[in-house]
Amino acid sequence: MSDRSDAPTSVIRLADYRPPAWTVERVDLAFDLGIDRTEVAATLELVRQADEPMRLNGEGLELLELSVDGRRLGEGEYILANGVLEIAVDGDRCTLATRVAIRPAENTALEGLYLSGSRDKGFLLTQCEAEGFRHITFFPDRPDVLSRYTVTLRADRARFPVLLAGGNPDGAGELGDGRHWARFVDPHPKPSYLFAVVAGRLERISHDYTTADGRAVALHIWAEADVIDRCGYAMDSLIRSMQWDERTYGRNYDLDVFHVVATHDFNMGAMENKGLNIFNAKYLLADPDSSTDDEYRHVEAVVAHEYFHNWSGNRVTCRDWFQLSLKEGLTVFREQSFSADMNSAPLKRIEDVALLRRAQFPEDAGPLSHPVRPSQYSEINNFYTATVYEKGSELVRMLAGHLGRDGFRKGMDLYFARHDGQAATIEDFLKALGDANDADLSPYLAWYGQAGTPRLTAEGRFDAAQRRYRLTLRQRTPATAGQPAKQAVPIPVRLSLFDHSGAALPLRLEGEDRAGDTERTVVLDGAEHAFVFEDIDAAPVPSLLRGFSAPVILECDYLPGELAILLRHDPDGFNRWEAGQQLAGLAYDDCRDGNVDGSALRAWTRALADLFAGGGVDDALLAELLTPPGEIELVERQAERDPERIRIARQAMLRALARRIGAEPLRERYEQLRAATSAALDAPSQAQRQLKRRLLDLLALVDPAGAAERALAQYGQAPGMTDRLAALATVATYASPSAEEPIAHFRRRYDGNALALDKWFAMQAMLPGAEALARVQALEGDPAFTLKNPNRVQSLLGSFARANPTGFHRADGAAYRWLADRLVAIDALNPQVAARIATAFNGWKRLEPVRREAAHAVVAGLAARTDLSRDLTDILARVAL
Ligand code: PHE
Ligand code: ZN
Repeated sequence: MSDRSDAPTSVIRLADYRPPAWTVERVDLAFDLGIDRTEVAATLELVRQADEPMRLNGEGLELLELSVDGRRLGEGEYILANGVLEIAVDGDRCTLATRVAIRPAENTALEGLYLSGSRDKGFLLTQCEAEGFRHITFFPDRPDVLSRYTVTLRADRARFPVLLAGGNPDGAGELGDGRHWARFVDPHPKPSYLFAVVAGRLERISHDYTTADGRAVALHIWAEADVIDRCGYAMDSLIRSMQWDERTYGRNYDLDVFHVVATHDFNMGAMENKGLNIFNAKYLLADPDSSTDDEYRHVEAVVAHEYFHNWSGNRVTCRDWFQLSLKEGLTVFREQSFSADMNSAPLKRIEDVALLRRAQFPEDAGPLSHPVRPSQYSEINNFYTATVYEKGSELVRMLAGHLGRDGFRKGMDLYFARHDGQAATIEDFLKALGDANDADLSPYLAWYGQAGTPRLTAEGRFDAAQRRYRLTLRQRTPATAGQPAKQAVPIPVRLSLFDHSGAALPLRLEGEDRAGDTERTVVLDGAEHAFVFEDIDAAPVPSLLRGFSAPVILECDYLPGELAILLRHDPDGFNRWEAGQQLAGLAYDDCRDGNVDGSALRAWTRALADLFAGGGVDDALLAELLTPPGEIELVERQAERDPERIRIARQAMLRALARRIGAEPLRERYEQLRAATSAALDAPSQAQRQLKRRLLDLLALVDPAGAAERALAQYGQAPGMTDRLAALATVATYASPSAEEPIAHFRRRYDGNALALDKWFAMQAMLPGAEALARVQALEGDPAFTLKNPNRVQSLLGSFARANPTGFHRADGAAYRWLADRLVAIDALNPQVAARIATAFNGWKRLEPVRREAAHAVVAGLAARTDLSRDLTDILARVAL
């Protein structure tokens, strides 16, 4: 992956899949660890599966020794080219031994074996998904080769007191001259991408856990000494995750030890290596003084996610990388269900749907769109996307909904039993779920192979004479990059019908003899279908896609007043929020069109003002209801995209809302909440902080001075990070001169706290307006800024390019040119990070003409270069099309 693109990029296709010609039964690895130079001795027991030469992947390895069945091979007895070692072997089995040298300290791509932190204090660790193992030793580095691993680590004891690898411990001891060793055996066959080692000076916290099936497991969380006291919440989350998976899916942990390690240098969120999960510190560390409520929830969710992979990913893994969503979509779904059980289910659903719309819908609508199961790729690292993860989870959710709770559990039991120890496919998954339930789920395969967000249109017709309501549903999916023709997919539509007083009606479909519940699911499995409901006395208000029962865009000609009924009365928090979002979209249209007295704007603000005053909505939901779709989502409502105008229109609708509620009630409610402020983590306290923040931002639109004064006071008195950061952001957004001092204060207060500083960089990078670029450029000069740390790059450059539309999309294109320059510099260090930031150019084609021209020049210029990594080249080539 770090190879430059002068070699022609080859495309890998799902249709070309062939099983491995040689598999590896056992691997024995011995590491002589050193920061500058590490030697890896590997012994592989290979078994022939097809009449082909043996081919092993290996990149950036210095080959020191190579032998087959004990006989050293000379040059000419093997071919080593383009990252592949090819050896012709006669028999059906052989033992291959290699010794290679690698250079961890030079590894800035953070893939393979690398150094986290500084040379004198840092530690060594590995990252192998997706194709990092080939940077450690020669191996058939593909997920369908499952092997049993024995790993021996040898290193200087003073420099590397802690030695860890996945599997159960199998001895340790001294070697003399200050060196020591430790051995690990993993009884579970696994693919190479789940291999991991860690070595260095680390502290730990531990817990003795007993699984439901009686296994004693030592849980250890490891981190550097300065942050080890921030790992407690992760440990609690891990224990909750283990118990939940036992309860919910009957899945137990399967080794005697489970290690979790925190690093500040990591390309992604976290990694599920067997028995040795490795986490970006951002998703493991949490303490009230430096973590927000959101971050606490993320830690809980990511700890759970990686733990759940032990079954959905590790025990049952993927046949090839096209099946990535088999483990990721499924595991995100499991993680979301866990979080919903631990916290509030409706709020969790709101959070997940909002994320899907903000991150996945734009991806699915632009040049980087791809199916949940892509059919081809040139760089797999670029497919760890919102589509594979978030949309993938939505697909599993539809399947789970289709089968019902017990049916889904039965299906999952069969899936795990049938494919334990195997590398499976999406078809295997659907088949197991179906077989356990006598159901044919194969129609859902279409969802996996087709990119783009389906549009679901709904048209209702009430027939007073017949007392019938006829609901016609239609679907169509717009063409996406490389996929012009689309087919119909099964769309489950959960629905209710409300009368105008807000009561839900019992539902009886034509042909049924009695009414059932007030909520049911119908499935649209073709292009169009009409559903006829009987015994309906007056034109009802349909509530469609309840719980967001399918990842589609609903187009329904609601009158604002109808949505307002749902927003006011729906007993289900999620559906209420959803009606509010749709109504807010219409209210936005009013503001966009300068229609300050528009009926949607009036209906939206009046309903929310009433809910605010009425006091019947809990704080957390109220905060969500008061938050309309963000600037990124709203671009869909513009023909020509001008982020500046979008922001102006959105601010106008928020101002109208604040006026309708009234400055005095806003101040009053804020003061009540302020008086109740604590740093407690329970749900009501979190909800209070969340609502307080919304109120302060609304107040800023009608009483800027009053809001700034309160925000400054809140900053000074905040008992925890949530209140502190929110206050800082409010002051910086609405009263920037008064923000200078608290911004400098925050910087000093958290000097040396990397995760807190990341938030400081990100908050400033997201401040709206054309001045943002100068601010970001100044921040690049901060001594704590570095292009070498992925979190830091994400927090400053990533936040700016992907979450600050008015700042990044400056009309003069200056931010585009600046980012292009930085991308080239980052790419030379870390291609994966560069590629991810470059996705900020995803939507350039639909910008208004001036910005589009400016973006085009920059994207085309970058795409024409031949000195960039395969990762970045792949993104640019697709974005430029
Ligand atoms: N498999 C990891 C997860 O989602 C993500 C990841 C991918 C981490 C590639 C590192 C590298 O849990
Ligand atoms: Zn995952």
